[in-house]
Amino acid sequence: MEYWDIYDSSKQVTGRKMVRNDWHMKPGDYHLTVLALIRDAAGRILITQRKGDKEWAPLKWEIPGGGVRAGETSQEAVLREVAEETGLHFTPEQGRCIHTYRSDSPAEQNNYFVDIYEFRGIFMPEQVKIQEDEVESFRLATPGEIRQLGKQDDFLHFQRIEGLLTMDIKKITIAGAGTMGYSMADIFAQNGYEVTLWNHRQPTLDKAKTKISPAAAEKITFTTSLDAFRGRDLIVESIAENLDIKLDFYRQMSLLADPETIIATNTSGLSINKLAEAVTGPERFLGMHWFNPPTLIPLIEIIKNAKTRPDVARTIYDLSLAIGKKPALVEKDVPGFAANRIQLAVLREALALVRDGVVSVEGADAVMKYGLGFRWACLGPLETVDFGGLDVFYHISEYLMPDLEDSHAVPELLAKKFQAGEYGVKNGKGFYDYAGDKAREATAARDKKLQAVYDALYGEKK
Ligand SMILES: NC(=O)c1ccc[n+]([C@@H]2O[C@H](COP(=O)([O-])OP(=O)(O)OC[C@H]3O[C@@H](n4cnc5c(N)ncnc54)[C@H](O)[C@@H]3O)[C@@H](O)[C@H]2O)c1
Repeated sequence: MEYWDIYDSSKQVTGRKMVRNDWHMKPGDYHLTVLALIRDAAGRILITQRKGDKEWAPLKWEIPGGGVRAGETSQEAVLREVAEETGLHFTPEQGRCIHTYRSDSPAEQNNYFVDIYEFRGIFMPEQVKIQEDEVESFRLATPGEIRQLGKQDDFLHFQRIEGLLTMDIKKITIAGAGTMGYSMADIFAQNGYEVTLWNHRQPTLDKAKTKISPAAAEKITFTTSLDAFRGRDLIVESIAENLDIKLDFYRQMSLLADPETIIATNTSGLSINKLAEAVTGPERFLGMHWFNPPTLIPLIEIIKNAKTRPDVARTIYDLSLAIGKKPALVEKDVPGFAANRIQLAVLREALALVRDGVVSVEGADAVMKYGLGFRWACLGPLETVDFGGLDVFYHISEYLMPDLEDSHAVPELLAKKFQAGEYGVKNGKGFYDYAGDKAREATAARDKKLQAVYDALYGEKK
């Protein structure tokens, strides 16, 4: 007889055991199941079809897996199940747990956890030997084909794995070769992706070529041809920040793109939902918001529109990690996404303090650079509260919140500078003076410091 360990609701082994498939569990008892997403080099996923004589869900498709036996770890179980069901023998290092969820079904007296592991590009289809008394057949399916099976209700627990059906990204087109676009193309090419950089005008491409690192530039295709949008895995749009220009572009481009191509916008602030209206297939569309300079700032905000498929968001999340970035998923399209909302909240208070003569411009910047911002590079505001104590922050909030700036207007000092035509580094004067060579020097000093912070926190150990 096969026994399974009984876990508690926080996934700790209780020391009690149950007989396999005995669903008469006590409330609060859980068992543990493992599943394996096994991908070939082309990103296709190995799926198996349940025997036709199964009592439950006959002939449905699924991914390999099964119950964790008493005394087994989740990882040991997934390797055993994969070997038993498919004849593939993997080592622990070849797979990683990419997702865990808890399912509570008191009505069926069946509560369980599921650990989903991923194994990538390390097997040949001819190595697969299915367990014939359990499995009717097997096949390698693309994420799109699995989605189709899911839609037809032919795939078991499809909703549970839908978000994990990430696509393999190899061919990328960046649309727009301006400040952001050429730098993004450079980063993708340096990381081994097949990159095309498209711009509607040739001179911008010629200029971009001179700014991209020579080794990457050699590998990038520079083009003004709309063919750049055919046969791609991903298109990242980084053209002018103008709603009508972007809407026109999407109406044309998304018709040329293959239906499975993921389309992302690098807009700083336009509504992703609004842009999605111009995209054929808005469920494959989302925001991929980089920060300037893209080579130095690790953050990428990934913003879903109301229809973005979960696997599309996850694909871009994983891609961002693969190029060394630190992604943050923004589940809802709100003005300013997450980063600009937080940034402007800080700016509103800082400018109010300067306006009221509480601190100088330099003083406000010092508070951030040497105090809050310095700490925030390592701990986010919520982690900071955890370290400081929620009780402490509760009491501070009680007396401070009523006193903070809460105006809904553009901050006065910002408006004054704007009306005086003082735009900052770009035209020589903002809150500080950048006349003559000072702008170039300030930019170089900024980049040097950002690089030093990056190296200290995330750089590779030499
Ligand atoms: N610069 C930043 O700090 C920053 C940061 C994050 C995101 N972004 C966003 O990235 C995008 C690009 O910004 P950028 O700073 O690289 O701008 P940019 O002005 O340097 O480049 C814009 C590009 O769009 C092209 N373009 C202009 N009109 C076009 C049209 N009608 N059709 C097709 N292409 C057209 C231009 O040729 C140019 O290559 C914008 O959406 C912007 O909001 C910018």
